[in-house]
Amino acid sequence: MATHLATVFALAAFQVVSAQPYVNYVAPGAPTSFYVPDTPQISVPEVRFPSGSQDLPLDQEPLQRAVSGFQPEQVNLIYISPTEVTVTWNTGDYQDGQTSNFKPVSPDSVCHTVAYGSSPKSLTQTARGTGTYYSVNYYYSGFSTKNLGCNTPTTCAAGQCDTYNLPPLPNCGPLNNYTSGIIHHTPVMNLQPATTYYYQVGCNATGLSGIYSFRTAQALKPTWTPYKIAMWADVGQTMNSSVTLEHMVEADADISILIGDLTYADDYLPDGHIQPDNYSSQVPTTDAPFGGQPAVVHEPRWDSWYRLMEPLFSSTPWISAAGNHEIESQLEYDRSVSNARGNASPVDLFKAWDTRYGIAGPAKYTGDQSVPSYFSTNLPGIHLVVLNAYIGNGTSGETEYYIGSGSPLKGDAQYEWLEEDLTTNFNRTLTPWLMVIFHPPWYNSYVGGYYAHECFRQNYESLFYQFGVDIVMHGHIHAYERTDKVYNYAINPCGPYYMTIGDAGNIEGLTAYFVNATTCQRALKAGGDACAPTTCTPDMYNQPVWSAYREPSFGHIVLNVINSTAIEMTFHRNQDGENVISDNTIFRRYPQYCTNQAQPTTQVTPQANAPVGAPAGAPGKDAANSANTATNTANTATTSSG
Ligand SMILES: *[C@@H]1O[C@H](CO)[C@@H](O)[C@H](O)[C@H]1NC(C)=O
Ligand SMILES: *[C@@H]1O[C@H](CO)[C@@H](O)[C@H](O)[C@H]1NC(C)=O
Ligand SMILES: *[C@@H]1O[C@H](CO)[C@@H](O)[C@H](O)[C@H]1NC(C)=O
Ligand SMILES: *[C@@H]1O[C@H](CO)[C@@H](O)[C@H](O)[C@H]1NC(C)=O
Ligand SMILES: *[C@@H]1O[C@H](CO)[C@@H](O)[C@H](O)[C@H]1NC(C)=O
Ligand SMILES: *[C@@H]1O[C@H](CO)[C@@H](O)[C@H](O)[C@H]1NC(C)=O
Ligand SMILES: *[C@@H]1O[C@H](CO)[C@@H](O)[C@H](O)[C@H]1NC(C)=O
Ligand SMILES: *[C@@H]1O[C@H](CO)[C@@H](O)[C@H](O)[C@H]1NC(C)=O
Repeated sequence: MATHLATVFALAAFQVVSAQPYVNYVAPGAPTSFYVPDTPQISVPEVRFPSGSQDLPLDQEPLQRAVSGFQPEQVNLIYISPTEVTVTWNTGDYQDGQTSNFKPVSPDSVCHTVAYGSSPKSLTQTARGTGTYYSVNYYYSGFSTKNLGCNTPTTCAAGQCDTYNLPPLPNCGPLNNYTSGIIHHTPVMNLQPATTYYYQVGCNATGLSGIYSFRTAQALKPTWTPYKIAMWADVGQTMNSSVTLEHMVEADADISILIGDLTYADDYLPDGHIQPDNYSSQVPTTDAPFGGQPAVVHEPRWDSWYRLMEPLFSSTPWISAAGNHEIESQLEYDRSVSNARGNASPVDLFKAWDTRYGIAGPAKYTGDQSVPSYFSTNLPGIHLVVLNAYIGNGTSGETEYYIGSGSPLKGDAQYEWLEEDLTTNFNRTLTPWLMVIFHPPWYNSYVGGYYAHECFRQNYESLFYQFGVDIVMHGHIHAYERTDKVYNYAINPCGPYYMTIGDAGNIEGLTAYFVNATTCQRALKAGGDACAPTTCTPDMYNQPVWSAYREPSFGHIVLNVINSTAIEMTFHRNQDGENVISDNTIFRRYPQYCTNQAQPTTQVTPQANAPVGAPAGAPGKDAANSANTATNTANTATTSSG
């Protein structure tokens, strides 16, 4: 996370807020308590480790560049399907500084070849792809915190305004330019499912990589053999990140999923230093500096991060969602929207993530390729939807800091796409599980995550519920939390489970503070967005009814996808090693009792009765409210200004 900004622009935006209609999806005649929430609720006392460690040094392996010329490096495999991966790698070093000294980057001067086969001795098949590169402008290297306000729009003196009616940027100094090396994307298609392949990238003329291997996922079928998915978020490149990485490799999963916040390159000043040097102290992460300041980034941290990740990514196909640290607002973009907020095209946001991860390259996912940051794909037994929480026409308490990015609202392009995807691309027989991932959590009871994306929740949650989403996974908050099945803050046997796993160990450290009587008001101020309540009430002082387990520790999770109604989830915290489990549960589906989880999805007339199976008295105040307003579908509008 870390969304602090010294310069905050005034914002005014409408959030269309509709009360959540309570629809009873419990089938008539279902047993009264087919679903029982976890008891007791567990809240592991806030762990007091040193909060986090600094990033690993850039001038030592594994972060340092270990090849020369156009030898391949940063090799990774993007999951497309059980029969296809996109192999991605870099050749040539980045260039950084004044553009006048740059050598041109010619992506096609180096081949995009992958040689592969079923044994390391016979890489007899070849695939060819495409090459690309990207560049960003950022502030000069003498940049310091006192200049953070240098792009604040001020009154424009006659004759000195640019096309956006803004004055020249005072005190910002000349801009530097980072231009990446060549980024290769090569789709390898028509693979056999559940098969081990060996591969090598590059060409004889300019250099070949070593030989790597990976296993394809099983074929997409209504039944499958149990398999593992390893998941993490908010990774970074610290000593802690590298411990989590080792455990992710040891998990030996078929697929790995990273739910946003990859490199934390935007936590750096342009000269590569962190300032203030404050992350190792026990300050709440909401006070952590940087992250989100337009044109303040140390882009070489992307190259170092991919080097660190290579042992996992070259052997396990991965899927990525975009987080707030991937936004990396560009300076020109920032200036253009200062006067015309919300009207600018989001073309330059997510530039590094988009170019390197390369969804636009393979274009094999289903999604809007003009903003190629939300998509869906199928894993064995699972339809996976990846959303981007930082685009759209709304604002939220946090996202307003990201100039030009918004928050998803009903009616946005992403919403329309999601509805269409779930209607046409989701087949419950083929993929019984429906899982959604996006970076920041809706259900989270830590300071910083509390009601922080409430507008997004209020706009999207009923769509999730209608289509019977089973599991929703998040990162962003640097701690672990798992909920019971919940809808609109009430335990609901036909609602999804939610998890926050933003605890892979990045430089910003742990989020250690639970919301309680002391921290509640600060939590709403730090996180709460335009749709959040403004004042705390006593029911907010304890672990919320929907929160089953929470623990501020670094770690990762593994999903053992057992069958059409059971997925085993295990949480592995760093201090114990990969083989020790500190939390585990079985996620279940109830297609026989929940009509929103049956195939085909049946529309049920809204009813204003209480959810069957919820324990008497368990839902708190919010739940009671939602039951009372069950039939109220009137829209109300609120205005926010920040
Ligand atoms: C950075 O430099 C490259 C190479 O000279 C150039 O193509 C690119 O347009 C520059 N990028 C920006 C954002 O100005
Ligand atoms: C490299 O050269 C060897 C020997 O001529 C050839 O078999 C192989 O296919 C070449 N590899 C690539 C990637 O071009
Ligand atoms: C992070 O890594 C440091 C250095 O190895 C260690 O001392 C610390 O306990 C770790 N923090 C957590 C929360 O695991
Ligand atoms: C570290 O953070 C604290 C609290 O935000 C602040 O008071 C202090 O000045 C910072 N230290 C440095 C070295 O910047
Ligand atoms: C914002 O709303 C307009 C009009 O409904 C829509 O065309 C556009 O796609 C929306 N923007 C995003 C980023 O969804
Ligand atoms: C859904 O998947 C099943 C199993 O693969 C298949 O038999 C069926 O035709 C699919 N339904 C549709 C509408 O594509
Ligand atoms: C709430 O949490 C804070 C931060 O951990 C702690 O200092 C405080 O004692 C707690 N207050 C209550 C009432 O539990
Ligand atoms: C799925 O696996 C769970 C847990 O092992 C088991 O209880 C259940 O009977 C299985 N269901 C089916 C349909 O095989």
